[in-house]
Amino acid sequence: MQKIAIMDMVLANTIAAGEVVERPASVIKELVENAIDAQATSITIEVNNMGLDSIIVTDNGLGMDQSDLYLSYQRHATSKIFSVKDLTQIKTMGFRGEALPSIASVSKLEIHSRTDKTEGYFVKIVDSKLVDEGKTTLNRGTKVKVFELFYNTPARFKYMKSEYAEKHAIIDIFEKLALSYPSISFRLIMDQKEIRKTLGNDSVEALIETIYGKNTTDGMKVLKTSIGKVGVDAYLVNPKFVRSKRSDVVVFINHRFVRNYAISQSIIEGYQTFLMTNKYPIALIYLTIDPALIDVNVHPQKMEVKLANEVYISFALTPLVKKTLESGTMPIRESIADVKKEYFKPEVINLFDLVKSEDDTVDLIPDKLEEAPIKDEAEKLPDFDYIGTLFGTYLLFQNTDGLYLMDQHAAAERIRYEYYVDKVGNLSPSVYELLLPRPLLITNNDFDYLKTYEMLLSSLGFSFLDDKLTSHPSWLRDDEIDIAIESICSQLATDGQIDLKKLRNQLAKDISCKGAIKANHQLSIKEINQLVYDLKQCLNPYTCPHGRPVLIKVSNYDIERMFKRIV
Ligand SMILES: Nc1ncnc2c1ncn2[C@@H]1O[C@H](COP(=O)(O)OP(=O)(O)O)[C@@H](O)[C@H]1O
Ligand SMILES: [Mg+2]
Repeated sequence: MQKIAIMDMVLANTIAAGEVVERPASVIKELVENAIDAQATSITIEVNNMGLDSIIVTDNGLGMDQSDLYLSYQRHATSKIFSVKDLTQIKTMGFRGEALPSIASVSKLEIHSRTDKTEGYFVKIVDSKLVDEGKTTLNRGTKVKVFELFYNTPARFKYMKSEYAEKHAIIDIFEKLALSYPSISFRLIMDQKEIRKTLGNDSVEALIETIYGKNTTDGMKVLKTSIGKVGVDAYLVNPKFVRSKRSDVVVFINHRFVRNYAISQSIIEGYQTFLMTNKYPIALIYLTIDPALIDVNVHPQKMEVKLANEVYISFALTPLVKKTLESGTMPIRESIADVKKEYFKPEVINLFDLVKSEDDTVDLIPDKLEEAPIKDEAEKLPDFDYIGTLFGTYLLFQNTDGLYLMDQHAAAERIRYEYYVDKVGNLSPSVYELLLPRPLLITNNDFDYLKTYEMLLSSLGFSFLDDKLTSHPSWLRDDEIDIAIESICSQLATDGQIDLKKLRNQLAKDISCKGAIKANHQLSIKEINQLVYDLKQCLNPYTCPHGRPVLIKVSNYDIERMFKRIV
């Protein structure tokens, strides 16, 4: 081993930079948070070449004088906290004094600033060293210019390769920041083009419209309440806007965007009966909490926040959200209760002797996409006679082998799924031209995806005029269009491309679930016969597309054993 040496300042800053500013979007986050802390009411972010050429953040905040400018890029220099005690009362976005020195170590940095009392001054820092300084003219506020980000690290190369992902990471962080502060006007300019602009007029409704899209506040419900000492402002977007991912359930604690699973989950559960299985809402929740009860100092990027009474808050939230959504007249989606995993207790599983998978247990992972459903003849549905319906949901059948319970919703889903798998993704579809272009229930971000992939989508039969749909493949029903388009966008967002096989499965799954017979709906004998007939034609009649069982058999042997006729 070599002798121990204390790291020099540049090396220490560069290592810290890896944590605080791991990507261009995180540089933007740090600079904007500084502007917010400086009480700016207007913040403009200009990004060139995904931030690799330049990131310029201009604010009209309090500014810095010359001596503060010299300190601002020094490590552990902050104007926001001064003692350990202050750490328990964080009211600002920043406090660690790490951002500017970290950025200075991986870029060429210029900070121009002016206060009410002083003239403008600028400093230029390269390799963490002051290389130029002087007077400059600007309005009160600060302009931070970051050039050639990561020029001295291998990370630069990495970001050059994933232009697409970086662009969206930047838009995403911008949106979260803009949503955090409804009173600040934010502008995002990418490669000289204005991408987003918020008004800063304090209206969350207006903000949601600018960020998510113009119709997204139609039928939105607002919940303003408090749970104990925690202030709650929840903006619950109408569940007709359906998302495939949970990332549009956004949590803010004291104006800080955070990832908090418990809180976002409690909101999703409040929406549960309004959404299909595996679908998520758009909802924003602003919590106001005494800073002493939270710990923001658990993560360098301050994205995770520890909350003292998190369990209590999330427990209380779900029924509040549900009640708010139920109030008034909101177009309600068909409600399909989620099947909880705990229903599949092991002692129940041994009755599923018809549902065979490799290890003889049922595949309980609802999200798993099904592979081509090929079942051998031996696993075709047996013949049986209908004897009644249980709870308006389970059809009961019998034959000489035992009793069968069929989940009518799952059965209908399976039938429709196989129908759609056949239709969706057909590469030369017959196309239905709309007389009037149709507005879509999707977000601004999704429009971006539709534009980017216009050619590909038109080969699938979808075409658009501005933000409206002008044609779609004819197999798609009118009430399925929004779901289909959201699924497509969600896949484009994740993969940057459309995998036809995956899309076909996903769409078939979503659409089949939506159109299928509901639980608690009494079927006529004719409908039951049709259902059994259709199910018999299915390649895989034993599970619904989400992996839940369609049919459960209780064998004669099991029944006799339950009654202790045999042991
Ligand atoms: N846009 C800005 N306006 C005014 N002061 C700023 C601005 N950006 C940075 N500063 C000053 O520079 C200091 C260091 O910033 P930073 O490294 O981000 O650390 P922190 O935000 O954790 O204090 C801040 O505490 C603040 O005093
Ligand atoms: Mg900061």
